[in-house]
Parts: sequence; C-alpha cells; structure tokens
Amino acid sequence: MKKIGIFDSGYGGLTVFEAIRKRLPQYDYVYLGDNARTPYGTRSFDVVYDYTLQSVKTLFELGAELVILACNTASAKALRNIQQFDLPKIDPHKRVLGVIRPSAEAVGRYTKSRNVGVFGTQGTVDSMSYPIEIQKLWGDIKVFQQPCPMWVPIVENGEYANDGADFFVEKYVRNLMDQSPDIDTVILACTHYPMLLPKIRKYIPQNVKILSQGEIVADSLEEYLRRHPEMENCLGRDKSVRFFTTESSQKFSSTASIFFDGKLDVESIQMR
Ligand code: DGL
Repeated sequence: MKKIGIFDSGYGGLTVFEAIRKRLPQYDYVYLGDNARTPYGTRSFDVVYDYTLQSVKTLFELGAELVILACNTASAKALRNIQQFDLPKIDPHKRVLGVIRPSAEAVGRYTKSRNVGVFGTQGTVDSMSYPIEIQKLWGDIKVFQQPCPMWVPIVENGEYANDGADFFVEKYVRNLMDQSPDIDTVILACTHYPMLLPKIRKYIPQNVKILSQGEIVADSLEEYLRRHPEMENCLGRDKSVRFFTTESSQKFSSTASIFFDGKLDVESIQMR
C-alpha cells in the first residue's frame, strides 16, 4: 500500500502536514525536509527545480504515490515542470500537487474588495505564480505582493515570538498595505509564516482576513481524493508516519518542536 508524501525545503511543511493529518488521519504519510539545502526561497529557478525533483523521486522511493509540495517556493518554481516533463517519464500514475492553486482558489472566495495581498519568499514573489494563478481563476482580483526575506530566518532561529521580530513584521505588513489600502485578504504564502501569525495580526488592519495554508491544502487534498478513487484506493490506512531529513536527525527533531506538537522520530537520508 502507498503513502502520501509531504515535501518541504525544511521544517515549515510540518505546519501543512499537521493540518493534513488532522483532517485525514487514516492514511500513511512520509515527510521529507531538505534541511541540508534550505533555504530554497533565495535560490534560482534551475536549482529549486533540480532539488525539488530529487526530493520528489526520493519520496516515491520511500513509498509515496502522491506528493504534496508544501513548500511555496518549490510549488512556484518546480511543480509545472515536474508535472509536465518528469512525471510521465517516472510513472504516469503518480501525482505531485502544490499549494498555490488551492490557495488561489480559496482567496477568491474570501475577498470582497477584490484586492488581495501575498506574503512570500523572494523566489515565490519573483516567480509571479500567485498573480498568474489568481488571475486565471478570478480575473477581477488585483494581487499585491510583498517579499519577506527576514521572516524565515526569524522563525528558524526561534525568534518569532520575541520583540525583535516586531520590526520586520511591521515593516513588511506596512509595505504591503501601502500598495493598496483596499486589501481585505492576505495569503501567508510560505510554510514558516503561520508561526508569525500573532504578530502579523497585531500590525495588519483588523478587517483583513489572513489565510494560512494548512487548512486550505487539507481541504483541497480531501476533495482531490474524493474525485480520484483510483488514487484513494491504493493508499495504506495504518496511520503510519515516517519523517526524513537530509540534515542530522537530531537537529531536525529539536528544531521541529517549533512547528509541531509532540516528539518526532526522524531518520536521516542522503539524496542521490
Ligand atoms: N518552505 C519555503 C516556502 O514555503 C520557505 C523556506 C525556504 O526558503 O526554503 O516557500
């Protein structure tokens, strides 16, 4: 029986994994964090594509039939190529899904002002994936983006709840809202940003709806499995979870506690 694979450049995908497993606890999961090569957010298109493809192949070898790219940067820079060019060669029955399309679908259901904001890594913002995907679905929505290069290091270093984080949260929130005071919905388009939610809430106008991706991706996966019984039927239901990292397993377990409640049993893996 097959597993659902969850990929992230590091720890942040655990926020998405937690939401998925809460919604769909019956399945078997395998999580891979490419911590040895994180961050992806500052890397070029070709490098992110190469690393993501290696990671997807590794998850297939570990038993995944369906892989969710929880990482926005990987979804922005690698998903389309993998779906179009690599999957047909690797195994046309396997699937790789990203987080951008479900987020774009969700945002159109929330915004009334039709002005939405996107907080993302530099790579996600530069790829223009969110404006392109949102405008494909909702031609009347204006999209404003703000890269937040300091937010991932703040979270990874455990500073997300401390006073020092306020400076960069306020700065990026202000930069986004200055682009359009009519923004009424924002997407936290990076796996790490939900950790900063209380501070983002503090600085963003109260009427602005903040969308985290965990719930959105869990909804979308549930719906996908309903529409694809051929995939759903091949998934194992032992509620098993295996965590892999390309870094040291000890390091992963200790930092993962920022993102995930409970102790993780982590295995280290080398990418080929
Ligand atoms: N996981 C990445 C994302 O969601 C952020 C961390 C990184 O830059 O690797 O975009």
